[in-house]
Amino acid sequence: MECAVQDCPEDSVKEAAKICRDNGADGIVGVGGGSVLDTAKAIAAVAPNGDDVLDDIALYITGQKDYANPRLKQLLIPTTSGTGSESTFVSVVTSIKHDGKIGLPSPPDYAIVDPELTLGCPASITAFTGLDAFSHANEALTEKNNTPHSDLLSYEVIRLVTKWLPVAVKDINNLEAREYLAFASNLAGIAFNESGVHVGHALAHQLGHKYNLPHGISCALLTPAVIEFVAKFYPEKTKKIGEAMGINIETDKPEEIGKIVADAVRDLAKEVKIPTFSELGLTREQVLEVGPLAYHSPDPLCSAFDGPVTLEDVNTILEIAYDNY
Ligand SMILES: [Fe+2]
Repeated sequence: MECAVQDCPEDSVKEAAKICRDNGADGIVGVGGGSVLDTAKAIAAVAPNGDDVLDDIALYITGQKDYANPRLKQLLIPTTSGTGSESTFVSVVTSIKHDGKIGLPSPPDYAIVDPELTLGCPASITAFTGLDAFSHANEALTEKNNTPHSDLLSYEVIRLVTKWLPVAVKDINNLEAREYLAFASNLAGIAFNESGVHVGHALAHQLGHKYNLPHGISCALLTPAVIEFVAKFYPEKTKKIGEAMGINIETDKPEEIGKIVADAVRDLAKEVKIPTFSELGLTREQVLEVGPLAYHSPDPLCSAFDGPVTLEDVNTILEIAYDNY
């Protein structure tokens, strides 16, 4: 079936799961961007286990419930470089019950990552998705489950995206840039599958749901402010992000490190033409509305940061992100 709807709405999953059941499907192939791959992953769990899975989605993501029947086999083929969905255990579903995005565990079985499939992807989508991969790496570095292994992958993703994203945005048919970005996206998926994402994605999910913002734009706009927040607790890691971006940082003051690295990400986002919240037609008040929604969401992403996060911190991140550039 063709899935033209972004953000994996629950209804699309139910409709496709019924088609799978009616036709006795034992596997599913997902070809497309992040929303399509996440939809395929959710279908694989719902088709053999029924629509109730979606009502109980919070119980599955928190490990309180497991599937009664084995999920359908999945083959995922990404056509964008950013989501990393082909290498992560979770499908991000837009839930009716929870009035927002929430994860459903459904790790894929197989994937084909072929950069030629991303040739011709429009410059704007290339930019959004590339910075989504950057944000996965950035947040994976300071998520509670981060490991030396996921850290290594994350720094490499940041290096690759910083170097190759502007090249691919300027020339959407540059296969060399596409190869490195496809690799980076896949590595970022492995990193955040092993570690995780936190505050940036908690907010991006709410912005996407409430204002229909493409996920990558939200992540791109939030990442600098997330870096400034994180730098207070992890100055050394933040400095290494800067080094991966090719910046020489001489100060040891956490706030200065955070500002320098965040500004470098703002420059990158500007270079690849990420629109600001105000250019997208959103007021400061609208953006700030998502703070409490993210903080109190049943998807525990805010508390996934490896440090303390208050509602005030979350609101400050949104305030700073609104004034990016
Ligand atoms: Fe993401």
